[in-house]
Amino acid sequence: MAHEVRGVVARAKGEPVSVETVLVPDPGPGEALVGVQACGVCHTDLHYRDGGIGDDYPYLLGHEAAGVVEAVGPDVTGVAPGDFVILNWRAVCGECRACRRGRPWYCFATHNATQKMTLADGTPLSPALGIGAFAEKTLVAAGQATKVDPRARPEAAGLLGCGVMAGYGAAVNTGGVQRDDTVAVFGCGGVGNAAIAAARLVGARTVIAVDLDPRKLEWATDFGATHTVDASKEDPVERIRALTDGNGADVCIEAVGRPEVLEQAFYARDLAGTVVQVGVPTPDMALPAIPMIDFFGRGGALRPSWYGDCLPSRDFPLLIDLYLQGRFDLDRFVSETISLDGVEDAFHKMERGEVLRSVVTI
Ligand SMILES: NC(=O)c1ccc[n+]([C@@H]2O[C@H](COP(=O)([O-])OP(=O)(O)OC[C@H]3O[C@@H](n4cnc5c(N)ncnc54)[C@H](O)[C@@H]3O)[C@@H](O)[C@H]2O)c1
Ligand SMILES: [Zn+2]
Ligand SMILES: [Zn+2]
Repeated sequence: MAHEVRGVVARAKGEPVSVETVLVPDPGPGEALVGVQACGVCHTDLHYRDGGIGDDYPYLLGHEAAGVVEAVGPDVTGVAPGDFVILNWRAVCGECRACRRGRPWYCFATHNATQKMTLADGTPLSPALGIGAFAEKTLVAAGQATKVDPRARPEAAGLLGCGVMAGYGAAVNTGGVQRDDTVAVFGCGGVGNAAIAAARLVGARTVIAVDLDPRKLEWATDFGATHTVDASKEDPVERIRALTDGNGADVCIEAVGRPEVLEQAFYARDLAGTVVQVGVPTPDMALPAIPMIDFFGRGGALRPSWYGDCLPSRDFPLLIDLYLQGRFDLDRFVSETISLDGVEDAFHKMERGEVLRSVVTI
């Protein structure tokens, strides 16, 4: 029997989203039905609305979510009704060449629920990032739901499902930031600030925040940045060198998604340092024209970071424990809580840079 719920749908490119009746099937084999409690509004939802990700309208938006499992398919053993879970984009297969080599965070055969959620007239919905959680209930592959400590507030926990995990993982998993490192983070939205908080958590000595918006730089300081650089007023490369004894930072994290920022990150890095690209480019962008002698001569590593190279089964419970111990402040990312009807408005606040995260609570 399908469940009739309210959900936020993008029906056509660039059009305001609307709250619609959505039919959510009961879970089949390998699936879980989750009662959504909270879901953050992420830039990627706006990209879906605006056609930046694909043309598979209508989309059921929302993908940064926490909730409670209501029912599972017959063969599901990993989660059970009543479990408090955080949702992730993709269940790993356990069998592809990456999984077989012990690197499941690269899994090349991830999957989502098999059955489709639909509009009331039967039109199939494309769930954002395989989740679709701006809805009272959603259907996911059971492997997309990770059980965590239920004492965490859902509006904070859900943020680990996307931006905060990507930023934390960019610093810790992809960049390998550790005690005594110098780190520069370009772009201080939800992703960049999570990278800043993570660098601070693992003991980085210097954490330099770069943004064009003074308000974002203030927030970055609250998250633990030791220095800030307003890239609209000064050259970030020179400033970062000056703040690191003329050398550049050990790890530079690009959390904007633009070629000119990648170029700054490349040159703001110390010899043998690491650049992490976690900002997502659009298909029309090309790598900056860096002389090959600089690429070779500076050594080190240039590393794209998909979803912060996270492994939800390892990283979600860990970060929730750190949060509950007061060592990783997820609450600070929550600028406001809103209802399903407030998502379109939240997109505008995001575009104006007024919020780090608006979170829908249900
Ligand atoms: N790799 C992944 O798996 C992953 C996951 C989630 C999000 N992302 C991407 O990470 C990026 C950041 O996401 P977010 O939610 O933090 O977005 P956001 O819009 O909240 O933050 C971006 C920040 O970059 C700043 N900025 C813009 N141009 C700049 C410039 N030239 N120099 C310095 N700062 C500049 C903006 O002022 C803003 O504060 C996006 O591209 C998003 O798509 C990647
Ligand atoms: Zn796999
Ligand atoms: Zn997201």
